[in-house]
Amino acid sequence: MAESPLAKRLAEIGSYQDSRRDQRWSFKLDQEKFLVKDEKHPTMPALAVTWLLGSGTHAQTAIAVEPRRRQGVELRWSWLASQNGPGLTPDHEPYDQFNRNSIECFGRPMNATDVLACLGCHMTVGPPPGAPLRTEFFVPNVGCERCHGPRQKHVELAQQGRGNEIKPLINYHNAEEYIAACAECHRDASDLTGKEQPHELVRFQLYGLKQSACYLKSEGKLSCANCHDPHDATSHDRALYRKQCQSCHQATEPSTCPIQPQGDCIECHMPAVEWTAGIKFHDHWIRKPENRSQAE
Ligand code: HEC
Ligand code: HEC
Ligand code: HEC
Ligand code: HEC
Ligand code: HEC
Ligand code: HEC
Repeated sequence: MAESPLAKRLAEIGSYQDSRRDQRWSFKLDQEKFLVKDEKHPTMPALAVTWLLGSGTHAQTAIAVEPRRRQGVELRWSWLASQNGPGLTPDHEPYDQFNRNSIECFGRPMNATDVLACLGCHMTVGPPPGAPLRTEFFVPNVGCERCHGPRQKHVELAQQGRGNEIKPLINYHNAEEYIAACAECHRDASDLTGKEQPHELVRFQLYGLKQSACYLKSEGKLSCANCHDPHDATSHDRALYRKQCQSCHQATEPSTCPIQPQGDCIECHMPAVEWTAGIKFHDHWIRKPENRSQAE
């Protein structure tokens, strides 16, 4: 994490008072390391953060991993874009009570399975099974090869001008197949525990989209690809999304909007909903606004 711009920013801020525990975290950049210390408990040694997960659109969460013991900890604080500063990591309230002299002092303890699950969706390549969780075994962030598979051969042939012999393409035959590829990491119906509050469902983009009449009644013409390019950051251009909606909803067949047929479709039909602590997600269950309020 020491190389990330956020490490520098936190070191400048210097410290942060935990919002729910009697702890004050100090942040320090020390050569190659980003160190976190509990100022109110000086005998507990400083912890070096290994990775920052998340692009930062909503948040960045720090984790520290002990390679040999194959365990780690998800830190109590995250950088929250909505607060433009550190705040409680989502879902850390259950850890308000903790043992000051253990790793719990820093946050939520993770065993090897937890660490690998967490990184599993946020990396391109991980370590061989059972190996120590050393940073050099990981290629963090979701890179090309995570979705396209190993492409060394393609690159070698391309350097000889023969790239077409092995194409770097993924071909999906239908919307369902396409969406299934995203489901490896993005939440779908199989990730539901049944305990979610209605506002928490907005993080399940696949589940939402697949509940929508647009998906169910468009005969395989609607997938994430209509509105997103997985290679780019999400566009915030509402006119672009309207164009996508209108590629189907342009006349009486299937239907046009009786309220604002030229309006900002997203504002009413895919609104941003607060998931937690000012972090918002867009509801991918496309429906009439009154059906939203009924469900919630
Ligand atoms: C290997 C895991 C993985 C797969 C597979 C995956 N994603 Fe993602 N996606 C992520 C992660 C992680 C993020 C959060 C951004 C980050 O932290 O880097 C993300 C973020 C996004 C975003 C939001 C980007 C932003 O600007 O905030 C979109 C849109 C998206 N993915 C679309 C897709 C689509 C479409 C597919 C299927 C083709 C897909 N993703 C497959 C892991 C994955
Ligand atoms: C099943 C796959 C999966 C697992 C496991 C997972 N993530 Fe993610 N994570 C995603 C996807 C997909 C996104 C982007 C879409 C979203 O936020 O719903 C994301 C988004 C994030 C973001 C917000 C990024 C932004 O948009 O700013 C953070 C922070 C994050 N994850 C941290 C973690 C941490 C820490 C762990 C482990 C404790 C973890 N994730 C485990 C798939 C996963
Ligand atoms: C989150 C998954 C994901 C990641 C990461 C990813 N791609 Fe893709 N890529 C796709 C999907 C999905 C398609 C579209 C396939 C389709 O529509 O059938 C695609 C298509 C392509 C195409 C064909 C483009 C076209 O217009 O036909 C190329 C080339 C490509 N990707 C290169 C890359 C490179 C280079 C990287 C890394 C910088 C990368 N991809 C990272 C999912 C991904
Ligand atoms: C691939 C085609 C397609 C796209 C793209 C599409 N829809 Fe639909 N949508 C349909 C079909 C088909 C139906 C079902 C018939 C109908 O109600 O018109 C539907 C139904 C709806 C309904 C009625 C839902 C209900 O439960 O009665 C709303 C509202 C809607 N769409 C809004 C949108 C918005 C907003 C967008 C863009 C964000 C969008 N649609 C994108 C095809 C599409
Ligand atoms: C009909 C258009 C449409 C389709 C289809 C669609 N999205 Fe989105 N998506 C949006 C819009 C609009 C936003 C919000 C963009 C913004 O921030 O202004 C968004 C945002 C996101 C984000 C960022 C977090 C958020 O909620 O703001 C993720 C992740 C995402 N979409 C994933 C997916 C995945 C995965 C699929 C396929 C299952 C998908 N989307 C299908 C329109 C769509
Ligand atoms: C100001 C909010 C608002 C905006 C903006 C808006 N809609 Fe609607 N839309 C509604 C409401 C409310 C209904 C339900 C009306 C009813 O059932 O009488 C509706 C209904 C619909 C329906 C269902 C029509 C039917 O016959 O059942 C579709 C399709 C639709 N909208 C598409 C769109 C599209 C596409 C856009 C963008 C071009 C859009 N809407 C913009 C509020 C809005």
